[in-house]
Amino acid sequence: MDIAVIGSNNVDLISYITRMPSEGETIEAPDFQLGCGGKGANQAVAASKLGSEVLMVTRVGNDLFADNTIANFKEHGIDDQYILKTDATSGVAPIFVDQQSRNSIIIVKGANALLSPEDLENAREDIAKCKLIVLQLEINLETVYAAIEMGKELGIPVLLNPAPAAPELSLERVKSVDFIVPNETELSLISGMPVDTLEDISNAAAVLLDAGIKNVIVTLGARGVLWVTASGEKLIEGIAVDAKDTTGAGDAFIGCFSHFWVSSGDIAESLRLANYYAGDSVTRQGTQKSYATGEDFRERFGEIF
Ligand code: RIB
Ligand code: NA
Repeated sequence: MDIAVIGSNNVDLISYITRMPSEGETIEAPDFQLGCGGKGANQAVAASKLGSEVLMVTRVGNDLFADNTIANFKEHGIDDQYILKTDATSGVAPIFVDQQSRNSIIIVKGANALLSPEDLENAREDIAKCKLIVLQLEINLETVYAAIEMGKELGIPVLLNPAPAAPELSLERVKSVDFIVPNETELSLISGMPVDTLEDISNAAAVLLDAGIKNVIVTLGARGVLWVTASGEKLIEGIAVDAKDTTGAGDAFIGCFSHFWVSSGDIAESLRLANYYAGDSVTRQGTQKSYATGEDFRERFGEIF
C-alpha cells in the first residue's frame, strides 16, 4: 500500500452558470455535471489514476449517493474496506461555476462529519502499511488531529491540506506534519499574517516552519507553488491553460504530488509534475472526471518526464 487518504467524499452537483441568481430569483443554468468529489476522495482518485495503491478511510451515508460513491472507489481500484456506511446523508457539494471558470461551493458534510478517531483506530493495522498519510479538513478536526498523532506513532510522513479554510484549526496540533499544503487564504488564516505579496507569503510560511512543520507548499493557482523549508524557498511555476473548470484542481495537485513523492522521494520534481497535472485538469469540466490517468498524462505531456 502506498498512500492512506483519511478524509471526505462528496457528490458534486456542478451547475455551469452565466451569473449568480439574486435573492428570490430563479435562473437557468445552461450546463450541469454530476460527479464524485470531496477533497479526500478527489486526492485519492488522482493518486490512484496515476498508479498509486491507495487506502481510503471515509464515511458515506445511507442514501442513493452512497452506493455510487462506493462503486466509484472500487472502479478506481481504491481499497474500500474502510469506506464505512453511516446512518446520515452522504456528503454533497452543490457547486456553481461561472464563465470565467470561478467557482462557489456549498459543502454539506453529512456522513463525513461522523468519521471518528475510533474509525482510524480500527484501520490502524492497514494505515501502518502506507508510506504517506494524506489529510484535509472536510472531516471532524479531532479526527484530523488523531490521524496526525497516528502518523507520528507509526513513523509515517503526513501531508495536511488545510482546506477548506478552518479558523478553529490549531497550529499547535498540526505542527508535526511533514508537508502542509495551503492556498494563500488558508496560509493567512493559519499564520495570522497577510499574504498580499510573495514576500508576505514567505513570512507567513516562516510562522509554520517555526512551529516545526518541515515543508510548507503554498499553492498559488495558475502562478504555481512556493515551496518553503528551513533551508530556503523555491517558486515552481504553473502552466498556462485555457481554464474551463478549476473545481478540484488543488486536489489533483495533491494527489499527483503524493503519487510522485511516494515513488521518488523528490519533492521539487513531484511539485513540478503536479503543476502540470492540476493545470491539465482545469481544461475539462468536473472534478474527478477531469483527472487524467497516468497513461493520458504521459501522452499529453511526454516531454516533461
Ligand atoms: O476541492 C474540490 C472539492 O471541494 C469538490 O469536489 C467538492 O466536493 C468540495 O469538497
Ligand atoms: Na476540472
